[in-house]
Amino acid sequence: MARDLTQLELLTELEPVAEQNVNRHLSLAKEWHPHDYVPWDDGRNFAALGGVDWDPAQSQLSEVAKAAMITNLLTEDNLPSYHREIAENFSQDGAWGTWVGRWTAEENRHGIVMRDYLVVTRGVDPVALEQARMVHMTNGFASPADQLPEGQAGFLYSVAYVTFQELATRVSHRNTGKVCNDPIADRMLQRVAADENLHMIFYRNMCGAALDLVPDQALDAINLILQNFQMPGAGMPNFRRNGVLMAKHGIYDLRQHLEEVVNPVLKKWRIFERDDFTARGEQTREQLGLYLEKLSKDVVKFEEQRDRMLAREALKRERELAGSSAR
Ligand SMILES: [Fe+2]
Ligand SMILES: [Fe+2]
Repeated sequence: MARDLTQLELLTELEPVAEQNVNRHLSLAKEWHPHDYVPWDDGRNFAALGGVDWDPAQSQLSEVAKAAMITNLLTEDNLPSYHREIAENFSQDGAWGTWVGRWTAEENRHGIVMRDYLVVTRGVDPVALEQARMVHMTNGFASPADQLPEGQAGFLYSVAYVTFQELATRVSHRNTGKVCNDPIADRMLQRVAADENLHMIFYRNMCGAALDLVPDQALDAINLILQNFQMPGAGMPNFRRNGVLMAKHGIYDLRQHLEEVVNPVLKKWRIFERDDFTARGEQTREQLGLYLEKLSKDVVKFEEQRDRMLAREALKRERELAGSSAR
Protein backbone atom coordinates (compact mmCIF):
# COMPACT_ATOMS: atom_id res chain seq x y z
CA MET A 1 0.00 0.00 0.00
CA ALA A 2 1.28 3.45 -0.86
CA ARG A 3 2.38 5.48 2.17
CA ASP A 4 0.68 8.72 3.15
CA LEU A 5 2.19 11.90 1.79
CA THR A 6 3.78 14.31 4.23
CA GLN A 7 2.56 17.86 4.67
CA LEU A 8 5.42 19.21 2.55
CA GLU A 9 4.88 16.67 -0.23
CA LEU A 10 1.18 17.54 -0.40
CA LEU A 11 1.81 21.27 -0.57
CA THR A 12 4.44 20.82 -3.27
CA GLU A 13 2.28 18.47 -5.35
CA LEU A 14 -0.77 20.71 -5.09
CA GLU A 15 0.96 24.05 -5.65
CA PRO A 16 0.14 24.23 -9.40
CA VAL A 17 -3.56 23.63 -8.59
CA ALA A 18 -3.38 26.31 -5.92
CA GLU A 19 -1.93 28.72 -8.48
CA GLN A 20 -4.73 28.00 -10.98
CA ASN A 21 -7.34 28.50 -8.29
CA VAL A 22 -5.83 31.70 -6.93
CA ASN A 23 -5.89 33.11 -10.47
CA ARG A 24 -9.45 31.92 -10.93
CA HIS A 25 -10.45 33.55 -7.65
CA LEU A 26 -8.77 36.86 -8.49
CA SER A 27 -10.51 36.99 -11.88
CA LEU A 28 -13.93 36.43 -10.26
CA ALA A 29 -13.65 38.41 -7.00
CA LYS A 30 -15.33 41.81 -7.19
CA GLU A 31 -13.92 44.86 -5.48
CA TRP A 32 -16.41 46.27 -3.00
CA HIS A 33 -16.30 48.83 -0.23
CA PRO A 34 -17.77 48.38 3.22
CA HIS A 35 -18.74 52.09 3.45
CA ASP A 36 -21.16 51.65 0.54
CA TYR A 37 -23.28 49.26 2.62
CA VAL A 38 -23.77 51.33 5.77
CA PRO A 39 -26.59 53.90 6.29
CA TRP A 40 -24.37 56.61 7.80
CA ASP A 41 -27.26 59.12 7.98
CA ASP A 42 -28.85 56.93 10.67
CA GLY A 43 -25.83 57.43 12.96
CA ARG A 44 -25.31 59.80 15.85
CA ASN A 45 -22.83 60.32 18.68
CA PHE A 46 -22.79 58.31 21.86
CA ALA A 47 -22.67 59.92 25.32
CA ALA A 48 -18.87 60.18 25.42
CA LEU A 49 -19.13 62.73 22.59
CA GLY A 50 -22.19 64.54 23.90
CA GLY A 51 -24.84 62.24 22.38
CA VAL A 52 -26.99 59.45 23.77
CA ASP A 53 -25.84 55.95 24.75
CA TRP A 54 -27.40 52.78 23.42
CA ASP A 55 -30.85 51.80 24.62
CA PRO A 56 -32.65 48.56 23.68
CA ALA A 57 -35.59 50.57 22.31
CA GLN A 58 -33.32 52.00 19.58
CA SER A 59 -32.80 48.63 17.89
CA GLN A 60 -34.99 47.71 14.94
CA LEU A 61 -33.78 44.12 15.00
CA SER A 62 -35.73 41.15 16.36
CA GLU A 63 -34.16 38.94 19.04
CA VAL A 64 -33.40 36.33 16.37
CA ALA A 65 -31.77 38.87 14.06
CA LYS A 66 -29.69 40.23 16.94
CA ALA A 67 -28.51 36.75 17.96
CA ALA A 68 -27.61 35.88 14.36
CA MET A 69 -25.83 39.18 13.68
CA ILE A 70 -23.78 38.94 16.87
CA THR A 71 -22.84 35.30 16.27
CA ASN A 72 -21.83 35.94 12.67
CA LEU A 73 -19.91 39.10 13.49
CA LEU A 74 -17.98 37.53 16.39
CA THR A 75 -17.13 34.66 14.07
CA GLU A 76 -15.71 37.13 11.54
CA ASP A 77 -13.89 38.95 14.35
CA ASN A 78 -11.95 35.84 15.22
CA LEU A 79 -10.04 36.13 11.94
CA PRO A 80 -6.57 36.22 13.55
CA SER A 81 -7.19 32.68 14.85
CA TYR A 82 -8.28 31.39 11.44
CA HIS A 83 -5.44 33.20 9.76
CA ARG A 84 -3.00 31.45 12.09
CA GLU A 85 -4.64 28.12 11.39
CA ILE A 86 -4.52 28.53 7.61
CA ALA A 87 -1.06 30.14 7.57
CA GLU A 88 0.39 27.32 9.69
CA ASN A 89 -1.19 24.51 7.69
CA PHE A 90 -0.77 25.93 4.22
CA SER A 91 2.48 27.63 3.32
CA GLN A 92 3.79 31.17 2.98
CA ASP A 93 5.43 30.38 -0.36
CA GLY A 94 4.21 30.92 -3.92
CA ALA A 95 0.50 30.60 -4.64
CA TRP A 96 -0.18 29.38 -1.08
CA GLY A 97 1.21 32.58 0.40
CA THR A 98 -0.72 34.72 -2.08
CA TRP A 99 -3.93 32.95 -1.15
CA VAL A 100 -3.46 33.21 2.62
CA GLY A 101 -2.86 36.96 2.39
CA ARG A 102 -5.65 37.66 -0.05
CA TRP A 103 -8.22 35.53 1.76
CA THR A 104 -7.39 37.16 5.10
CA ALA A 105 -7.79 40.64 3.61
CA GLU A 106 -11.17 39.73 2.11
CA GLU A 107 -12.42 38.20 5.36
CA ASN A 108 -11.49 41.33 7.29
CA ARG A 109 -14.01 43.31 5.24
CA HIS A 110 -16.82 41.20 6.62
CA GLY A 111 -16.21 42.19 10.21
CA ILE A 112 -15.69 45.84 9.20
CA VAL A 113 -18.98 46.18 7.33
CA MET A 114 -21.10 44.30 9.87
CA ARG A 115 -19.76 46.22 12.85
CA ASP A 116 -20.17 49.58 11.10
CA TYR A 117 -23.76 48.67 10.24
CA LEU A 118 -24.63 47.54 13.78
CA VAL A 119 -23.05 50.54 15.49
CA VAL A 120 -24.53 53.12 13.11
CA THR A 121 -28.04 51.64 13.21
CA ARG A 122 -27.79 50.83 16.96
CA GLY A 123 -28.96 47.32 16.16
CA VAL A 124 -27.21 45.76 19.18
CA ASP A 125 -25.63 46.98 22.43
CA PRO A 126 -22.16 48.18 21.36
CA VAL A 127 -20.71 47.72 24.86
CA ALA A 128 -21.88 44.10 25.16
CA LEU A 129 -20.67 43.48 21.61
CA GLU A 130 -17.21 44.81 22.44
CA GLN A 131 -17.04 42.77 25.63
CA ALA A 132 -18.03 39.61 23.75
CA ARG A 133 -15.42 40.33 21.07
CA MET A 134 -12.71 40.62 23.74
CA VAL A 135 -13.68 37.30 25.31
CA HIS A 136 -14.05 35.48 22.01
CA MET A 137 -10.79 36.71 20.47
CA THR A 138 -8.86 36.13 23.67
CA ASN A 139 -10.06 32.52 23.72
CA GLY A 140 -9.21 32.07 20.04
CA PHE A 141 -10.30 29.16 17.91
CA ALA A 142 -9.29 25.54 18.47
CA SER A 143 -9.24 23.61 15.24
CA PRO A 144 -9.97 19.87 15.04
CA ALA A 145 -6.56 19.66 13.32
CA ASP A 146 -4.90 20.73 16.59
CA GLN A 147 -5.77 17.38 18.16
CA LEU A 148 -4.12 15.32 15.43
CA PRO A 149 -1.42 12.79 16.22
CA GLU A 150 2.08 14.01 15.44
CA GLY A 151 3.10 13.79 11.78
CA GLN A 152 -0.37 13.91 10.19
CA ALA A 153 -0.72 16.39 7.35
CA GLY A 154 -2.67 19.26 8.92
CA PHE A 155 -3.30 20.72 5.48
CA LEU A 156 -5.93 18.09 4.66
CA TYR A 157 -7.87 18.69 7.87
CA SER A 158 -7.73 22.46 7.49
CA VAL A 159 -8.81 22.47 3.89
CA ALA A 160 -11.66 20.03 4.59
CA TYR A 161 -12.84 22.09 7.55
CA VAL A 162 -12.82 25.44 5.77
CA THR A 163 -14.65 24.02 2.77
CA PHE A 164 -17.65 23.19 4.96
CA GLN A 165 -17.21 26.20 7.18
CA GLU A 166 -17.20 28.75 4.32
CA LEU A 167 -20.35 27.21 2.92
CA ALA A 168 -21.95 27.19 6.37
CA THR A 169 -21.17 30.89 6.87
CA ARG A 170 -22.56 31.61 3.42
CA VAL A 171 -25.88 30.02 4.41
CA SER A 172 -25.89 31.71 7.79
CA HIS A 173 -25.11 35.22 6.48
CA ARG A 174 -27.66 34.87 3.72
CA ASN A 175 -30.45 33.84 6.10
CA THR A 176 -29.44 36.46 8.66
CA GLY A 177 -29.91 39.09 5.95
CA LYS A 178 -33.47 37.88 5.47
CA VAL A 179 -34.48 38.05 9.15
CA CYS A 180 -33.08 41.55 9.66
CA ASN A 181 -36.12 42.94 7.90
CA ASP A 182 -34.03 45.76 6.46
CA PRO A 183 -33.14 45.87 2.75
CA ILE A 184 -29.80 47.52 3.59
CA ALA A 185 -28.77 44.67 5.92
CA ASP A 186 -30.01 42.13 3.41
CA ARG A 187 -27.94 43.66 0.62
CA MET A 188 -24.85 43.84 2.85
CA LEU A 189 -25.12 40.21 3.93
CA GLN A 190 -25.78 39.05 0.37
CA ARG A 191 -22.51 40.72 -0.56
CA VAL A 192 -20.68 38.98 2.29
CA ALA A 193 -22.30 35.64 1.45
CA ALA A 194 -21.11 35.97 -2.17
CA ASP A 195 -17.53 36.29 -0.87
CA GLU A 196 -17.95 33.21 1.32
CA ASN A 197 -19.14 31.26 -1.70
CA LEU A 198 -16.01 32.10 -3.68
CA HIS A 199 -13.85 31.16 -0.69
CA MET A 200 -15.69 27.86 -0.41
CA ILE A 201 -15.04 27.12 -4.09
CA PHE A 202 -11.30 27.68 -3.65
CA TYR A 203 -11.10 25.32 -0.68
CA ARG A 204 -13.46 22.79 -2.24
CA ASN A 205 -11.30 22.69 -5.37
CA MET A 206 -8.14 22.26 -3.30
CA CYS A 207 -9.64 19.50 -1.19
CA GLY A 208 -10.99 17.89 -4.38
CA ALA A 209 -7.48 17.93 -5.88
CA ALA A 210 -6.15 16.36 -2.67
CA LEU A 211 -8.76 13.62 -2.99
CA ASP A 212 -7.56 12.86 -6.51
CA LEU A 213 -3.95 12.82 -5.33
CA VAL A 214 -4.30 10.84 -2.07
CA PRO A 215 -7.88 9.50 -1.95
CA ASP A 216 -7.67 7.45 1.25
CA GLN A 217 -5.69 10.02 3.17
CA ALA A 218 -7.95 12.91 2.14
CA LEU A 219 -11.10 10.96 2.97
CA ASP A 220 -9.76 10.27 6.48
CA ALA A 221 -9.54 14.02 7.01
CA ILE A 222 -12.99 14.73 5.53
CA ASN A 223 -14.59 12.02 7.65
CA LEU A 224 -13.00 13.24 10.87
CA ILE A 225 -13.95 16.85 10.16
CA LEU A 226 -17.58 16.02 9.37
CA GLN A 227 -18.05 13.77 12.36
CA ASN A 228 -16.72 16.49 14.67
CA PHE A 229 -18.09 19.50 12.85
CA GLN A 230 -18.79 22.56 14.93
CA MET A 231 -19.53 26.05 13.75
CA PRO A 232 -16.50 28.25 14.37
CA GLY A 233 -18.43 30.29 16.94
CA ALA A 234 -18.31 27.48 19.49
CA GLY A 235 -17.06 28.91 22.76
CA MET A 236 -18.19 32.49 22.20
CA PRO A 237 -20.36 34.13 24.88
CA ASN A 238 -24.01 32.95 24.55
CA PHE A 239 -23.07 30.62 21.68
CA ARG A 240 -25.52 27.96 22.82
CA ARG A 241 -28.43 30.32 23.38
CA ASN A 242 -27.81 32.13 20.10
CA GLY A 243 -27.18 28.90 18.22
CA VAL A 244 -30.48 27.48 19.45
CA LEU A 245 -32.33 30.65 18.43
CA MET A 246 -30.72 30.52 14.98
CA ALA A 247 -31.56 26.85 14.52
CA LYS A 248 -35.10 27.35 15.77
CA HIS A 249 -35.72 30.07 13.22
CA GLY A 250 -34.06 28.47 10.22
CA ILE A 251 -30.90 30.59 9.99
CA TYR A 252 -28.63 27.62 10.44
CA ASP A 253 -30.18 24.33 11.44
CA LEU A 254 -29.37 20.67 11.08
CA ARG A 255 -31.32 20.18 7.84
CA GLN A 256 -29.53 23.13 6.25
CA HIS A 257 -26.23 21.73 7.51
CA LEU A 258 -26.92 18.36 5.90
CA GLU A 259 -28.73 19.41 2.73
CA GLU A 260 -27.13 22.74 1.87
CA VAL A 261 -23.62 22.25 3.18
CA VAL A 262 -22.53 18.61 3.66
CA ASN A 263 -24.34 16.82 0.83
CA PRO A 264 -23.62 19.24 -2.04
CA VAL A 265 -19.89 19.21 -1.25
CA LEU A 266 -19.71 15.41 -0.94
CA LYS A 267 -21.61 15.16 -4.22
CA LYS A 268 -19.19 17.52 -5.94
CA TRP A 269 -16.30 15.34 -4.74
CA ARG A 270 -18.21 12.23 -5.90
CA ILE A 271 -17.39 10.57 -2.58
CA PHE A 272 -19.95 7.81 -2.98
CA GLU A 273 -19.22 7.18 -6.68
CA ARG A 274 -15.43 7.12 -6.67
CA ASP A 275 -13.54 3.93 -7.38
CA ASP A 276 -10.06 5.10 -6.41
CA PHE A 277 -10.19 4.21 -2.72
CA THR A 278 -8.32 1.18 -1.41
CA ALA A 279 -9.79 -1.02 1.34
CA ARG A 280 -8.80 1.64 3.88
CA GLY A 281 -10.74 4.33 2.03
CA GLU A 282 -13.70 2.01 1.48
CA GLN A 283 -13.88 1.45 5.22
CA THR A 284 -13.77 5.18 5.94
CA ARG A 285 -16.47 5.76 3.34
CA GLU A 286 -18.69 3.21 5.10
CA GLN A 287 -18.22 5.01 8.41
CA LEU A 288 -19.07 8.30 6.73
CA GLY A 289 -22.17 6.74 5.17
CA LEU A 290 -23.35 5.53 8.58
CA TYR A 291 -22.71 8.95 10.06
CA LEU A 292 -24.79 10.62 7.34
CA GLU A 293 -27.65 8.19 7.95
CA LYS A 294 -27.60 9.08 11.63
CA LEU A 295 -27.52 12.78 10.76
CA SER A 296 -30.63 12.38 8.56
CA LYS A 297 -32.47 10.79 11.48
CA ASP A 298 -31.27 13.54 13.82
CA VAL A 299 -32.67 16.12 11.38
CA VAL A 300 -36.14 14.62 11.70
CA LYS A 301 -35.85 14.37 15.50
CA PHE A 302 -34.67 17.97 15.75
CA GLU A 303 -37.53 19.24 13.59
CA GLU A 304 -40.14 17.35 15.61
CA GLN A 305 -38.75 18.87 18.80
CA ARG A 306 -38.62 22.31 17.21
CA ASP A 307 -42.21 22.10 16.00
CA ARG A 308 -43.38 21.09 19.48
CA MET A 309 -41.40 23.92 21.05
CA LEU A 310 -42.73 26.52 18.59
CA ALA A 311 -46.30 25.29 19.11
CA ARG A 312 -45.90 25.55 22.90
CA GLU A 313 -44.55 29.06 22.58
CA ALA A 314 -47.40 30.12 20.28
CA LEU A 315 -49.93 28.72 22.75
CA LYS A 316 -48.25 30.58 25.61
CA ARG A 317 -48.38 33.84 23.67
CA GLU A 318 -52.06 33.31 22.84
CA ARG A 319 -52.86 32.70 26.50
CA GLU A 320 -50.95 35.78 27.56
CA LEU A 321 -52.80 37.85 24.99
CA ALA A 322 -56.17 36.44 26.06
CA GLY A 323 -55.20 37.11 29.70
CA SER A 324 -54.22 40.72 29.05
CA SER A 325 -57.37 41.49 27.00
CA ALA A 326 -59.60 39.94 29.73
CA ARG A 327 -58.07 42.29 32.30
FE1 LIG B 1 -16.29 35.91 6.28
FE1 LIG C 1 -14.95 33.34 3.90
